[in-house]
Amino acid sequence: MKTQVAIVGAGPAGLLLGHSLRQAGIACIVVERTSQVRVESRIRAGILEATMTDLLARLGLDARLKVEGLPHDGLTLVNDGAVIPVDIVGSTGKHVTAYGQTEITRDLIDAAPAAGLDIVWEAGDVALHDVDSDHPSLTFTVDGVAQTIECDVIAGCDGFHGPSRAAIGGTYCDRAYPFGWLGVLADVAPCHHEVVYASHDRGFALASMRSPTRSRYYVQVGNDERVEDWSDDRFWDELETRLGPDIARGVTRGPSIEKSIAPLRSFVSEPMRRGRLFLAGDAAHIVPPTGAKGLNLAASDIVYLSEALIGWFARGDTAGVDGYSARALRRIWKTERFSWYLTSLMHRFPDAGPFERRMQHAELDYIATSAAAQASIAENYVGLPL
Ligand code: APR
Ligand code: PHB
Repeated sequence: MKTQVAIVGAGPAGLLLGHSLRQAGIACIVVERTSQVRVESRIRAGILEATMTDLLARLGLDARLKVEGLPHDGLTLVNDGAVIPVDIVGSTGKHVTAYGQTEITRDLIDAAPAAGLDIVWEAGDVALHDVDSDHPSLTFTVDGVAQTIECDVIAGCDGFHGPSRAAIGGTYCDRAYPFGWLGVLADVAPCHHEVVYASHDRGFALASMRSPTRSRYYVQVGNDERVEDWSDDRFWDELETRLGPDIARGVTRGPSIEKSIAPLRSFVSEPMRRGRLFLAGDAAHIVPPTGAKGLNLAASDIVYLSEALIGWFARGDTAGVDGYSARALRRIWKTERFSWYLTSLMHRFPDAGPFERRMQHAELDYIATSAAAQASIAENYVGLPL
């Protein structure tokens, strides 16, 4: 097979890039390791910046988002039960939208045939070759049969565990946090009209939503905790305690339809380009989920990368591809900072003493009483400019 851009991975990054390139008439093929069913059933993030909703609108892929997405004009912080509303629309003129990554993935896959976007599912042994030459290629197997794609460019959109990052041979910078999030999905009405980030002496809790009848909740847990030890009742009790009485009053309990623990980490791989290979999304960076940036950061990488590749293929302009890594990394590092800041502010760290705890209280008290502090959180939460 021959194409212009071979895209490794059919997560949000790979699918968004595929649609962006197809819209500009550039040939591309997406090669995905797992099955369509598995990709469509992954439950992940749910809060979209305008960066993401604008991109979906430009691609003409926002029909369902416009109907089912829930616009949020603000977010809510809670400090040991004290509620701190943060107005987003008032200070930025923009809002965020609650719409599940699962739904975005489905929309992008459903629209692929009409866009002429081919996706190879269940590709085994995916390997990248000759990325330093003008003729890179991708090899893999489908049903045991060896396949090769010869291309001009490879886009590594294969997430944290894919092979593309290693092919860059860059340097890594990371931090693992001494806790994870236990997440529950339940078909109950959300407890609050906005996302709630709660700091409590017993640990962090988050209240989010997927629809008016589906809620997503998380509590901070130690890295040694096991999901089997968390009955639904134990989860709801802990969640309500940490959210505090004002927010807990709105909680409707119900059976969990999904329950899992995810570790928290910050990670950046630099640079994001080597020769004809470009990284985007989780392949190059991970943020802890406090701040809801993982999916949105993949979207901004794809805006930069698709602009760069379209400039190159359509006009022979290499400025975009040459500047891609530095341009993307500037926004990535600022977003890493915000995600680390909110994580550090809202969680209990096992090695923190009374001084660190008082600093968290003081900072949250400052935020509660300062329009400037709230504006700073709002402009980061809604998404920094591209
Ligand atoms: N060959 C082909 N595909 C692969 C390979 C491989 N060897 N290894 C991994 N993949 C696929 C995965 O199966 C997955 O479908 O690459 C895809 C990567 O998708 P994500 O992990 O969702 O990463 P990305 O597209 O960058 O997502 C951006 O959304 O919810 C968030 O956590 C997610 O923050 C991330 C963001
Ligand atoms: C979610 O809805 O799953 C969600 C919301 C906000 C976050 C993280 C996750 O910061």
